[in-house]
Amino acid sequence: MESQLDWHQAKALLEWQIELGATEATLDVPVNRFELTDKAPVKEPAKAQKQTPALRVEKVDPVAVAELATAGAQDLAGLKQAMAQFEHCQLKRGARQLVFADGNPDAKIMIVGEGPGRDEDLEGRPFVGRAGHLLDRMFAAIGLSRTADDAGGSIYITNVVPWRPPQNRDPSPIEIDMMLPFLRRHIALAKPEIIVAMGNISCQALLGKRGVTKLRGQWATGCGVDVMPMFHPAYLLRNPLAKREAWQDLQAVQKRIR
Ligand code: URA
Repeated sequence: MESQLDWHQAKALLEWQIELGATEATLDVPVNRFELTDKAPVKEPAKAQKQTPALRVEKVDPVAVAELATAGAQDLAGLKQAMAQFEHCQLKRGARQLVFADGNPDAKIMIVGEGPGRDEDLEGRPFVGRAGHLLDRMFAAIGLSRTADDAGGSIYITNVVPWRPPQNRDPSPIEIDMMLPFLRRHIALAKPEIIVAMGNISCQALLGKRGVTKLRGQWATGCGVDVMPMFHPAYLLRNPLAKREAWQDLQAVQKRIR
């Protein structure tokens, strides 16, 4: 509180109080003298700080984990199970289910697409939406079907990633890399004579490069197998004029398996 007295008045008042026997100044805040002690306050030992155990951040290499998981897969059922148990791919969190493969595993031709879309995520099978219907019609045109029982007349279909990417975005290079050991093992177990790489993501995974417009129509080698890069059926739906090139590529495939 601000004093109304000037310096001289305050000093005079103090001297007068001392004369009356005052030994202490009264403070604005009351002090309970009974609680005061003569002894110097004992400094409380600093409370032992609760030690938080150091967080051990273990760096996991998802590609190494995937390679280890695939090494133990002796057949396609085992591989599917290993994929279902793989927890390092973020795509799994947003997907309804794993989309492993469809068609005849004994087929001479293996089709590798990019990843499941909405319809595939709902149904659990690759290429069942609009792009899938076009894919079926394309291969029917050269006498092949996913429902055929004979190896020569059928196709086997899978994708680079088995979980639907959110908003149908492209799988990232990291996601492609960590799922690649599964794709390699898939190919090794299915033993196709020919792989058809549908679109850029598939070319990236199998051939290590993109640019399907340039790559299409030319035989390449990926995972030790002859690969024919082709336009993705979804691209053909948007660009019907490119069906002419797709037809040429299908004929090259047909010629090769004869
Ligand atoms: N596109 C793909 O690449 N794969 C599918 O399974 C469906 C659409």
